[in-house]
Amino acid sequence: MMLGRSPLTCILLVAVATCAVAQHAPPWTEDCRKSTYPPSGPTFRGQVPWYTINLDLPPYKRWHELMVDKAATVKVLVNSLKNVVNAFVPSGKIMQMVDEKLPSMLGNFPGPFEEEMKGIADVTGIPLGEIISFNIFYEFFTMCTSIITEDKKGHLLHGRNMDFGIFLGWNVNNNTWTVTEDLKPLTVNLDFQRNNKTVFKASSFAGYVGMLTGFKPGLFSLTLNERFSINGGYLGVLEWILGKKDAMWIGFITRSVLENSTSYEEAKNILTKTKLLAPAYFILGGNRSGEGCVITRERKDALDVYELAAKQGRWYVVETNYDRWKNPLFLDDRRTPAKMCLNRTTQENISFAALYDVLSTKPVLNKLTVFTTLMDVTRGRYETYLRDCPDPCIGNHNHGSGWLSCTTLDGM
Ligand SMILES: *[C@@H]1O[C@H](CO)[C@@H](O)[C@H](O)[C@H]1NC(C)=O
Ligand SMILES: *[C@@H]1O[C@H](CO)[C@@H](O)[C@H](O)[C@H]1NC(C)=O
Ligand SMILES: *[C@@H]1O[C@H](CO)[C@@H](O)[C@H](O)[C@H]1NC(C)=O
Ligand SMILES: *[C@@H]1O[C@H](CO)[C@@H](O)[C@H](O)[C@H]1NC(C)=O
Ligand SMILES: *[C@@H]1O[C@H](CO)[C@@H](O)[C@H](O)[C@H]1NC(C)=O
Ligand SMILES: *[C@@H]1O[C@H](CO)[C@@H](O)[C@H](O)[C@H]1NC(C)=O
Repeated sequence: MMLGRSPLTCILLVAVATCAVAQHAPPWTEDCRKSTYPPSGPTFRGQVPWYTINLDLPPYKRWHELMVDKAATVKVLVNSLKNVVNAFVPSGKIMQMVDEKLPSMLGNFPGPFEEEMKGIADVTGIPLGEIISFNIFYEFFTMCTSIITEDKKGHLLHGRNMDFGIFLGWNVNNNTWTVTEDLKPLTVNLDFQRNNKTVFKASSFAGYVGMLTGFKPGLFSLTLNERFSINGGYLGVLEWILGKKDAMWIGFITRSVLENSTSYEEAKNILTKTKLLAPAYFILGGNRSGEGCVITRERKDALDVYELAAKQGRWYVVETNYDRWKNPLFLDDRRTPAKMCLNRTTQENISFAALYDVLSTKPVLNKLTVFTTLMDVTRGRYETYLRDCPDPCIGNHNHGSGWLSCTTLDGM
């Protein structure tokens, strides 16, 4: 096998090419939004449908009902991705390789993941290699904002925007990103059950078996944000391909914690200590005062665990895609506006509505935002809304599109 021609290298080349066309982007911001909740108007795209995933079924069968509904939509996305790949390497050899070689190259995935992906491939008729690529894809290109707040009574809320950070296929008709748009109809809310009882709830993209956003009612909430670092995920994937399989895929560990951890402390311990394939930020909230943290991970170790401390005035934590002790990339500062709007809200007035206002303020809301999730662990409330970001809005092709992909490159 020649690593130099692996499909992952191809994805990298796409990122390089995207980066090469980057232009200068003026930061685009607006005043903190007010009264955007309940969601309506031009930034609200629609509701997200609920599906039940029965964990009592064998992994191969769990996703059938959902995938029968979404097969055609998954194919649209897979085709958009293929078009991108084929535009860079027109021979079609890359996709042939993904279909024929990728599954054996990557070998077996742990736990239920292998069988779940096989089941999804069979029911949709999409080759397993493409389903695997689709699953790996999210390990690399998700830009996000996550926030945990604590009110004066010690009550916690957790919110997040899921931004899909890859600049491919600009649609000139309506100024949107093809992949971001393709992901909206794939967005689903999932109620994972055992014995007909909820184990956890999550928002995800049909066909993806890892989880990036979810909560366990009464116990904890968890979101994952991409982290770019020199010792990045590409090395981890290479090690995996070369047979060193002692590390976890980041979307898979998040799923395992949501499924099997039984407390905030246990989740925190696993997310802090397990060896990972890629760096990441885990944003974890619990069910009582003080239980909220951002875990900054290298592949082997946690660099930092930053916790709520309301008594000292730290009544929220915010994470985008940068280490908290470093400045964000100046073209991509979503952190300062999020903090500014939280400061203006004040701890007295924090609520789902206030959190949704913050997550609706540009550039926290941007062209790549697919959905917004709001979670209240103790009250068991879980809401996800599809988003749009009508012009003027940052993340626009004409205003310097390549910057997020360039950040990806820094992580190589
Ligand atoms: C933009 O156009 C694409 C392709 O026609 C469509 O799928 C997408 O929903 C549109 N997006 C918006 C926000 O109008
Ligand atoms: C779950 O509920 C369905 C219908 O309500 C029932 O047929 C089934 O036996 C239940 N399963 C379990 C494991 O309790
Ligand atoms: C959760 O734990 C069960 C029982 O140990 C195991 O079979 C399953 O694979 C685990 N789930 C995940 C997602 O790791
Ligand atoms: C909060 O979580 C702990 C486990 O960390 C659990 O024992 C406790 O019952 C939970 N509290 C509530 C009110 O659900
Ligand atoms: C928010 O408030 C904190 C505490 O007063 C302050 O340290 C921080 O600079 C403020 N951030 C912004 C972006 O306004
Ligand atoms: C907080 O809410 C109260 C009651 O709705 C309102 O009077 C007050 O102005 C709000 N404070 C801020 C800083 O928005």
